[in-house]
Amino acid sequence: MSGAAPRGAAARGAVTVRAAAKINLHLGVGRPRPDGFHPLVTVFHAVSLYDDLTVTPALDWRVETHVARHVDDAALPPDGDNIVDRAAALLARHHGRDLTGHVRVEKAIPVAGGMAGGSADAAAALVALDRAADLGTSDDDLLALAAELGSDVPFALVGGTALGEGRGERLTPVADDGSWWWVVVPAAGDGLSTPAVYRRFDELHPDAPAQPAPAGVLLEAVHSRDPDRLAAALHNDLQPAAVDLRPDLADTLAAGEAAGALRGVVSGSGPTCVFLARDADHAREVAGALRDDHPTVVVAHGPVAGAHVVTVETR
Ligand code: C5P
Repeated sequence: MSGAAPRGAAARGAVTVRAAAKINLHLGVGRPRPDGFHPLVTVFHAVSLYDDLTVTPALDWRVETHVARHVDDAALPPDGDNIVDRAAALLARHHGRDLTGHVRVEKAIPVAGGMAGGSADAAAALVALDRAADLGTSDDDLLALAAELGSDVPFALVGGTALGEGRGERLTPVADDGSWWWVVVPAAGDGLSTPAVYRRFDELHPDAPAQPAPAGVLLEAVHSRDPDRLAAALHNDLQPAAVDLRPDLADTLAAGEAAGALRGVVSGSGPTCVFLARDADHAREVAGALRDDHPTVVVAHGPVAGAHVVTVETR
């Protein structure tokens, strides 16, 4: 994108927005709708693994991505085919004007891992560009634009714990006073393509219901603040499909539980596996045991906030 410097941008310097990874505490999937998307009943949960996105005012448009040491960048999309470009184009169209700036994305969320890293970047881009150019986009409009960008992008805006319906974009906040500790194990090697996992789900479940079952058991477990109850209630309908495509995930899940985790599940469409621990010390203990055989093991907690401004430079 090119064009005139955005109105208001001169008043502000760089804006940095942080957006969190998500896991699905519950992921119920139905048979595909006429538009090809699958109806979901899911409980999203934002955890403390973050991508940071900085927009610096400039007369041209540029996006550069840097990945943390633990992130495998092989699955990053090529330059120019980034969800950040799409977010900027959509926001520009919404306001009927050009948007410019230099964008730097610092990725710590695994790429193609089932933790919605791309969605986090899209949400961060919407918020950062809105603030940098002083666009004053309403929350409702940001959520609608987010839903156009991807099913998980609205949740990346709101964070916390939330029930997701429709294709995941229709959100209801869930009161979550728990402090849940997770051990996150990104899979070594290639990520999994979300459409491929959904396709395998269709093959494995030709009789999937038109509407997935409600998430009542999981929601009661969240409200109980009891990690053992939450562990027992974790549920992912996509897990058999992900494990079918990546049989090594069964070993990772077994290793986490052998290391003492309360329970392990594949995160979303995978291949990242997440393990619930009793508390922070227990999470560190489980992580320590898993590090012997897994190159990257991260401890995270949730729920955490959605996309939010962390710094605004003044010029
Ligand atoms: O919405 P998003 O772009 O993240 O979806 C990526 C792909 O994942 C879709 O093209 C579709 O194949 C699959 N998907 C689905 N049902 C959903 C969400 C995603 O089939 N509810």
